[in-house]
Amino acid sequence: MNAKASQTLVIIGQGYVGLPLAMAAVDAGWMVIGVDNFEPKVAQINSGSSPVEDVSDKQLQEALSKGVYRASTDFASVSQASVVTICVPTPLDQKREPDISLLRSAAAGVAPYLSNEVLIVSESTSYPGTLRDVIIPAINLHKPKSSVKTYFASAPERVDPGNLRWNQKNTPRLVGGIDAESQKRAFEFYESICDAVVAVSTPEVAEAAKLLENTFRLVNIGLVNEFTQLCFTNGINVHDVIEAAGTKPYGFMPFRPGVGVGGHCIPVDPLYLTWWARQNGGSAALVESADSINQGMPRYVAERALAMINSKVKSPRVLILGVAYKPGVGDVRETPVSELRDALIAQGVNVGWHDPLVPMWGDTDSVDLDWDCDVAILATKQPGVDLTQLIDRGVQILDCTNSIRNLAGVTSL
Ligand SMILES: NC(=O)c1ccc[n+]([C@@H]2O[C@H](COP(=O)([O-])OP(=O)(O)OC[C@H]3O[C@@H](n4cnc5c(N)ncnc54)[C@H](O)[C@@H]3O)[C@@H](O)[C@H]2O)c1
Repeated sequence: MNAKASQTLVIIGQGYVGLPLAMAAVDAGWMVIGVDNFEPKVAQINSGSSPVEDVSDKQLQEALSKGVYRASTDFASVSQASVVTICVPTPLDQKREPDISLLRSAAAGVAPYLSNEVLIVSESTSYPGTLRDVIIPAINLHKPKSSVKTYFASAPERVDPGNLRWNQKNTPRLVGGIDAESQKRAFEFYESICDAVVAVSTPEVAEAAKLLENTFRLVNIGLVNEFTQLCFTNGINVHDVIEAAGTKPYGFMPFRPGVGVGGHCIPVDPLYLTWWARQNGGSAALVESADSINQGMPRYVAERALAMINSKVKSPRVLILGVAYKPGVGDVRETPVSELRDALIAQGVNVGWHDPLVPMWGDTDSVDLDWDCDVAILATKQPGVDLTQLIDRGVQILDCTNSIRNLAGVTSL
């Protein structure tokens, strides 16, 4: 267990990726310092309160009290590291194009404190070439002396927050080093934490594989969302169709329709791919089309819900159930439910929302389930929400989750 006790891992970014990684590394015997430039989050973590669902307060408190983990805003901690992993956000900018400014600033922040023989790994999702063309030049520009030897690899994180089965330890990890020695060191590092490490030939293969994984999901979700609209128009229940197709033992994988795609990854990463394609004179038309279908889903769901309300109702009231982007988490980043709410409000609807894992959303509070409404939309099925009181009150529910089919008053998307 303590094979790595003499070695320190510094993780830049203590969010959904960086903090669970810190705990996995602590379990594997590493000393870990989590550097984050958001002071309130560092203070919260050091007080023993976890900001992410995948790390419990108890787990965090144990690591803090044993002195094997702490969070800090100070990049000077990097001087103690034998390995540095970068886990900062890679969002989209106003034009819905890659914004890698946080990655650049993390690289520039790390560089002055690098000592000899440090392995630097980027876990952030980005387009192929980011390690080689952006991170390495930024670090080489700012590192203390050109003679300081550094090793580089890309090992994109695959964590699925809230997933109780797959975590940092048991999810196979792709590793692509910039050269043979970097590859060897990165492989050994992840072997100390993960059950399975997969060496790939270059960092670009690892970076591209991550984009392919998430684009695969975006495109298939787009396909099933389009198919849902076609089926509804023609009076066919799409879930019956998906179940029927799913009986084929090979060549088919079921995806379900919903309000759209949300979170930090599926709506974002494929646009790194489309941008990268354009930069290189190509195009990713299929991906762009799937993105556009998924973006239209909140408006489609709003229309379907409004069609369920008696046209004589002058001021309709709609209750949205579940606003996080997926079940079991309180994460509202990029949630498509936001567009759904806007689409309803644009139609003059009075919107209430209920989500036990999201006490505040923007500047609004979650309402109680007895909030008076003409129709409810089950957007995200959060655990512990008792829908029977709505059903007993005769409230009609548009179920976008396929989780309460066949109950009275429930219509499937
Ligand atoms: N959340 C997921 O499910 C998931 C899964 C796989 C991969 N990823 C990828 O991992 C990366 C990190 O995502 P996340 O969900 O952990 O983000 P996050 O927002 O939860 O956490 C990132 C943290 O980095 C900090 N930060 C930002 N810029 C910084 C800087 N320059 N220096 C130090 N700290 C900085 C922020 O304060 C924040 O606490 C992204 O590239 C994302 O696409 C995310």
